[in-house]
Amino acid sequence: MGLFRIKHNEFEQAFSMERFDTEHVNEWISVDRLQEQAWIDRYEYESYLVNHVISNNPNTKNILEIGSGPGILSQKILAHYPDLNYHLIDKPFAKKYFEEHQYKGTFFVKDLSNSFDKEGLLPKYDLVIMNDFLEHVYNPHAILKAVYELTDSNSNFFISNPNWRMAHQYVYRGLFDFDNFIYLLYTHHFQLDGFYGSQLKTPHYPKISSESLLPDENLTDWNHYMVFKHREV
Ligand SMILES: C[S@@+](CC[C@H](N)C(=O)[O-])C[C@H]1O[C@@H](n2cnc3c(N)ncnc32)[C@H](O)[C@@H]1O
Repeated sequence: MGLFRIKHNEFEQAFSMERFDTEHVNEWISVDRLQEQAWIDRYEYESYLVNHVISNNPNTKNILEIGSGPGILSQKILAHYPDLNYHLIDKPFAKKYFEEHQYKGTFFVKDLSNSFDKEGLLPKYDLVIMNDFLEHVYNPHAILKAVYELTDSNSNFFISNPNWRMAHQYVYRGLFDFDNFIYLLYTHHFQLDGFYGSQLKTPHYPKISSESLLPDENLTDWNHYMVFKHREV
């Protein structure tokens, strides 16, 4: 019986952690990307999707955005719905930008890499938003459990799932394949209501076995923006 070995430099190539940022406290110390047109357009599109969810659920009053970054999306949503009570959670430099720009809303600094401390938050939110966040933390279970506790059957959970084809950073890579992600949410008592595609496209790679639910026309969407409902158990 032979022992198969993988050369060290092959690990280095396959598992580059240069962009693996969940433990970086200095994230958002550089905010240059926020000026790029592609980012401006992306936030515009995402706010349009969230506004669509809110318009379908006119009783939406309290919103929690987890891993919000400095709050660009929140300000676009608040421009459309100024009476919302909007809470945001991210790291210290994101809050610094938020405060310097005198953004509306209430910003909480929390480290969510391993756990979710609910201190200061409301007991329930009508809408929870997670835009490109869950794949960055070590303990997605702790986050999803907390979101379940912070929502009820009238709430919506808007969560983006990055397509692996755009070579994003992940702690748990296969977990975010289309079917596996819906299954992960299902095991945490969330039912998929539907999803939106993306205006940005990835390179084309063929469908893999853990994408049986993914419509062909959405294969190269940069993100799948999913809306989940709280499933009573
Ligand atoms: C890819 S960015 C997305 C930011 C924002 N939602 C957006 O769409 O531009 C991931 C966000 O998660 C935050 N984040 C990553 N790890 C975190 C942690 N352990 N605790 C709190 N926030 C974290 C980062 O600071 C960053 O703002």
